[in-house]
Amino acid sequence: MKFLVLNGPNINMLGIREPAIYGKDTYEDLQDYVRKGCGKLGAEVSFYQSNHEGDLVDAIQQAYFDKADGIIFNPAAYTHTSVAILDAVKAVGIPTVEVHISDVSKREDFRQVSYVRSACVKTIAGHGFAGYVMAAEYLADLLGGVTGLTQP
Ligand code: DQA
Repeated sequence: MKFLVLNGPNINMLGIREPAIYGKDTYEDLQDYVRKGCGKLGAEVSFYQSNHEGDLVDAIQQAYFDKADGIIFNPAAYTHTSVAILDAVKAVGIPTVEVHISDVSKREDFRQVSYVRSACVKTIAGHGFAGYVMAAEYLADLLGGVTGLTQP
């Protein structure tokens, strides 16, 4: 199993940005944590982060050509604005889990809208970094791999 862990704008600022919401751990810490969690599932992971909408669209398209089995995707602010990202996820047809570190359902009104959600097999929000590993477990289960261990 090959998963792409894709993160949108400002996720590279983890540890600096709003620690009361996103915690004190960095993007590097996130990658280490997710790599370990996915290793336990026997999944191979690659990571990509960008602050640019078109780069995220390119990365989703590249996942198709790289034959990724699943995408673990935190589109960050583009969640709430981007039809281009929704269309990219629909275009490639790769099972994608939408992940948010914070519980967007309990935040501002503008965060209640998710354009990408309708193209995703699941949404996991409010579980911090653990949400990414939950997403990997969900995908592994869906793809007929190891049974999930910590589903919300
Ligand atoms: C986020 C939530 C988004 O609303 C926000 O724009 C982010 C991060 C999260 O992980 O909780 O940048 O996706």
